[in-house]
This record gives sequence, structure tokens and C-alpha cells, in this order.
Amino acid sequence: MYIDLSNAKTTIPQALTDQAETYRKQLFSGTMENTGWVTLPETMTRQKLDEIQQCADDIARKCTLFIVVGIGGSYLGARAVIDALNGDQPGRPHVMFAGYNMTGAHLEKVVSAMKEQATCLCVISKSGTTLEPLLAYSILKEEMFAKYGEKEAKNRIYVVTGHNDGPLRRDVAQYGFPCFDVPEDIGGRFSVLSIVGLLPIAVAGFNIHQLMQGAGSLSMDRITDYACTRILLQQSGKDVEVFTYFSTNLRFFGEWLKQLVGETEGKDGKGAFPSCLCFSRDLHSIGQFLQQGHQVFYETMIQYKRAQGDFVIPACAGAPFAGKMLEQINRCSEAGVVKAHSEGGVPVIVLTVEQVDEYNIGQLIYFFELSEAISAMLLGVNPFDQPGVENYKSNTRELVEYL
Ligand code: PA5
Repeated sequence: MYIDLSNAKTTIPQALTDQAETYRKQLFSGTMENTGWVTLPETMTRQKLDEIQQCADDIARKCTLFIVVGIGGSYLGARAVIDALNGDQPGRPHVMFAGYNMTGAHLEKVVSAMKEQATCLCVISKSGTTLEPLLAYSILKEEMFAKYGEKEAKNRIYVVTGHNDGPLRRDVAQYGFPCFDVPEDIGGRFSVLSIVGLLPIAVAGFNIHQLMQGAGSLSMDRITDYACTRILLQQSGKDVEVFTYFSTNLRFFGEWLKQLVGETEGKDGKGAFPSCLCFSRDLHSIGQFLQQGHQVFYETMIQYKRAQGDFVIPACAGAPFAGKMLEQINRCSEAGVVKAHSEGGVPVIVLTVEQVDEYNIGQLIYFFELSEAISAMLLGVNPFDQPGVENYKSNTRELVEYL
């Protein structure tokens, strides 16, 4: 991965670099709570990956539809990777996500797909108590029992949860559903490279060994530079971080980033508000504001060198396009946007990977997890809690009592 900070136009003071480096070392020290994800590229051994792969292959043999129930960190990472890598793979189940909303119409679609296809269900919730996935799971579990009968449903329902005594653990004890443990020291938004993300990604047919190799190959060099640059930009009044990319496949990677940044640094009145834009589409909508509106933005653009698919522009498109590759023109648009935005007052940080594949996505995930944790520490907030999320949960429960 190549990191270009030149269009951010900041100078990082040595003291800030030193501080960031101290925090980076602290993350790796093994003495800090909730940092189990930091060592995943080493602790997720070949043998552990093979076991996950074997389970994923068993699931893939049993079904053409794999429903993953979860929300936040128990959902976005897997969805981001599967989408980035182009979704459905030949011979592997279609992965459908549920439990990240309480929208009846969405669940109806999931249930009707389930009625038509051989299905396996996997519920992922570290706490085992999150309202949205628990409700979706309860409905889908009943549907699975109705479709397959209890005996067969037991072979088709999988649980991924933490060490808790919630309803998921009770179901595991009662029905004997296969169950995987979410490690205690890995929080939701940092869990994509654990069983939480790896199982759905492997079921979808993607190479989890390469994903972890990519993460493990990340050079520590520029992580702190990126974190420091973000903090300096925030201190200069840039309150909104816009993650941008010229590939529709990265849409959910942007959603994953929004959660990672939003929940990690958005507390105690601090942090950048994270947003994501998918270009070219959003250049023709919100792009106007970015270019000439109230300048509160800085941008982190993810670029790739080799495209996942491409076309030669036919002669009928005329000069200067005919005969050139579609993605070559996409690259020109990318360079044009970097120039226009930085000249318009939006500092742009560019991260470039060779291509969007398992290896590079693994590297990007690990890069953003580390740089985000360091950013939060530089801001002086706890990277690993999300107390604000609890407020809406307790309000909702209270209102439901009165229904
Ligand atoms: O990052 C986090 O910890 C949260 O966003 C959780 O992932 C989210 O709330 C879902 O929690 P759980 O897996 O306990 O259902």
C-alpha cells in the first residue's frame, strides 16, 4: 500500500509523531484491554484458518443461501469484504444479511428467499443481547424450524457469540447449534479479521488465508503518519472526514469505515464526522458541496492500480475516448478529482493498493483499525467503548415496555 500525504499539506511535529509511536507500541504491548485484534495476523494461525474454512465448506455444501444475522461490527466487516470482492462466487452460497434493521419488508424478502432455497442461518452477536439481531434471529429461527423441522434445522443454524449467558448461549445449550466464540478482548468494530468476519467471508468463497496474509504484511511505517495527519487536519477545523473511492464495490467498505471512525473517536465532543462517497456517482450530487460548499472536509481517497473488470471503449464513443480502457478514464477522473478538491481547499490523503483482492483488503482493514485506534488515543478518548450507542437502546426498551 502506498500513502500519499502531500495533498494534505500538513507538517507533523516530531512530538506528535513520538506520541503516536508510543501509542502504537502500547497497542502491541499486550497490556491494554480490548486489543486482541492487534495480534490476529499472528494468532489466527494456518490451523485455525483451516478449521474455519472447513466449517465454511460444510455450510456451502448444505445451502445456496447463507443468511447472516448481525449489526454494527458483527455485520459490516463481512459485508464490506464480500461486496469489495464482487459478491456471489460460482458454486458458493449467496450471502444475505439481516438483523441490521427492524424493517419488516426487508425480513419478508429474506424469508421468501429462504423458502425457495436450501438455507443455512448464522447469527453473530458478541453480547448476545443486541435487539435488532435478536429479533431477526427469533423470526428466522422459527422459519427454519418450520421449513426443516427441529432435527434438520439444528444442522443448519450456527451461532457466533461472546462469553455471555444470553439467549444465544441458551439456544446453543438447548438445541446444540454449532457455536463459535468471539474472543473477549476483541470488540465488534475491530472483529472482521476474527471468526466474526472470517466465517461469512469464507462461506462466500473468498480466500481467508490471503486476507490474513495481507493484514500480516502491513508495514508499520506510515500508520502513525496517517493518524497524525488526520488529527492535525481536525485541529485545523476540518470536522468531516470523507472516505472516497472510484469503485462501487467499495461502498460497504465505506460503511465499515464510518462505523470504525464514528464509534472509535466520536465521543467527549471530539473526532471527525465520518462519511463516504462513491465516485463517479456522488460527483454528480454531493460533489458540488465538497468542491465549493462550507469547507469543513478532509478526504481519504482509496485508489487501486489494477481494476477487477474493464472494457475497451468502442469507436462509436469518438475521440478522445475510443480505443482507451474504461478504467484508464476512471483513473483520469480520480487524478482530476484529487487536483480539483485539493485546489478547492479539501486536503486529500490518497491510499493506493495494487488491486482490490483479499490480500489488499486485509491490509487496508488492518491499516485502518490500527490508525483509527491510534487517532482516538491521540484525541484522548477510549477507542474501544461506545457509550453513546447505549442511550438509544435503553430508550427503545423502555418504550417497548409500554406497547
Ligand atoms: O463496535 C461495536 O462493539 C458495536 O458496534 C457492536 O458491534 C454492535 O453494537 C453489535 O454488537 P453485538 O455483536 O454485541 O450484537
